[in-house]
Amino acid sequence: MKFQNKECCFLCWRKPCAPLFFILVFGIANCHTIQRIKECGVSCSQGFPCKNKQLDDSFNFFCRSAPKDLPKNVLENMKISTVMKCTPSSRCSLHLNVNGTVIFHGHVRGVEVCALSLGSQHTQCMNIRFPRQKQKYYQQKIHVQANCLEVDVSEHVYVTMKTIPDYCKVHLEEHYYVEDCHNKDVGKHIRSCISGKLDYMVNEGKKFITVHVSNILEDLDYNVRLCRKRFICHDVGAHAVIKKEDANKSVTLEYSEILPCLCIEGWSAMPDARRTRLCPFKNDISILWDSITYDPKRQVLTWNPLCPVNAEVHLCWMPEHNDRCLRITNSLSDEHDKVSYSRVDTQPSLCINFTTDAGSWVRCPFASGSFPAWMMETHLINEIIQIRLMSQTKAKFSVSICNQTNFNSCEKLQSYTLDHGGTLDNVTLNLSQKICGPNICIQCLRVDVNYTFPVQSCGIPCMLQDSMPNQGSSLQMLVVVAIILALTTIFTWTGYLTFQGSKRGPQKTIGIAATDGVEEQKD
Ligand SMILES: *[C@@H]1O[C@H](CO)[C@@H](O)[C@H](O)[C@H]1NC(C)=O
Ligand SMILES: *[C@@H]1O[C@H](CO)[C@@H](O)[C@H](O)[C@H]1NC(C)=O
Ligand SMILES: *[C@@H]1O[C@H](CO)[C@@H](O)[C@H](O)[C@H]1NC(C)=O
Repeated sequence: MKFQNKECCFLCWRKPCAPLFFILVFGIANCHTIQRIKECGVSCSQGFPCKNKQLDDSFNFFCRSAPKDLPKNVLENMKISTVMKCTPSSRCSLHLNVNGTVIFHGHVRGVEVCALSLGSQHTQCMNIRFPRQKQKYYQQKIHVQANCLEVDVSEHVYVTMKTIPDYCKVHLEEHYYVEDCHNKDVGKHIRSCISGKLDYMVNEGKKFITVHVSNILEDLDYNVRLCRKRFICHDVGAHAVIKKEDANKSVTLEYSEILPCLCIEGWSAMPDARRTRLCPFKNDISILWDSITYDPKRQVLTWNPLCPVNAEVHLCWMPEHNDRCLRITNSLSDEHDKVSYSRVDTQPSLCINFTTDAGSWVRCPFASGSFPAWMMETHLINEIIQIRLMSQTKAKFSVSICNQTNFNSCEKLQSYTLDHGGTLDNVTLNLSQKICGPNICIQCLRVDVNYTFPVQSCGIPCMLQDSMPNQGSSLQMLVVVAIILALTTIFTWTGYLTFQGSKRGPQKTIGIAATDGVEEQKD
């Protein structure tokens, strides 16, 4: 869990202030100032003369049973905090400040405080030694303090306090987490936290990004790279080093494509250096909807985004003169990585709709008309309604006459199945003109694909029978069903095609999770 300095300090004044508990815990953890010390050492209650004295390592290795008269609470009130010691050259280090109380007793010659780093398994100890002859303090509580144990940023340490000699069952122990670089004070003064600040300028024409760095360690070279963030940030080849002696702290990096997950990373040239990462394009998500491919051989439509994004994806049908794309049933997918649809109807009206928290976008991969399409026409010839189907590919259709009882439902009256061989010939269906009426519709659905949409034409007029007698063999067009345009396109049956969608949606923020160990720089 990470909080920016700004955030942790101002979060509570924002509304809404939930969850309050969280903010309090992390707010306190990250915003307090670290106490400064000039010298480190040991100290005891006023007037009690104690000393910091190194012990023979083996001396306190095994505990011994406590004398009968030793109080059970001989050690109490262990409290741990972090303190900072800075030298005039402004190098600062972090130390544990361990406090506690001890009941002065003839059998206790001092207190040992140890810290085991759970990362490095390294143990350090400090000894607080009591003078031998101090009868007037007998049975008194003495406050002891040791603050020389040096620790790293965000280190997890296991701290113990023992008597000298080490009596069993009177130990105090506690786990302690040292503040990390998100603490304002630590972030500003501890060397390993100083990871640099990045500013950038994009030259879109020449496709490069100029990065200027500041707030870096002056005695080290500094690395800058471009990377593409999925779970971690993957190198994309652009990398540069700013030499420590360079006065001009700028580099130029080439990029191939602006993507929401394209990030700039900077870090000092030292092992395990903390990195600063800036993802300046993270709001430009509309480019992600363009990576749609169609494989005509396998008849698979695929969307494979170049960056991870949380989007709800479904297929839809775009009616002509209408920009509300109608959802195709059973086509919803909320996969984050790759979405595929097999056997889609390659009509220009078949589109993909993407919805995120930031908005909704529609891309129509077949809109260019370069894929096999079909169309239905309805003509009146003498007293017959002739339905003609044209198709550039083998297809199977279900044609129904239905009675539209309300906006959403059309009650089927008659149904026919028609096969089209994909040749130049039309497939026709002749129906009696007696089927007419304002609510009567002709519905056509392609049934040999998984994803398509019924095309419907309504309102077959009965009057025509009288008003247009003796038209001979000339064709009288009754209804031309919407959506399908000219059939003049050339079949494209080979290879994959990438579509560059033309419709652009809104561009708003989208969150992409941060990775640990890297400081996400806010603009
Ligand atoms: C169509 O539905 C309406 C109302 O539901 C009904 O009155 C009418 O007779 C129906 N027409 C046919 C041809 O079935
Ligand atoms: C439909 O009618 C037309 C004209 O009368 C005729 O040429 C055609 O063969 C008929 N089609 C079918 C499938 O009966
Ligand atoms: C789509 O069609 C193919 C072949 O016709 C079939 O194997 C597959 O299960 C269908 N997929 C879906 C999701 O309906």
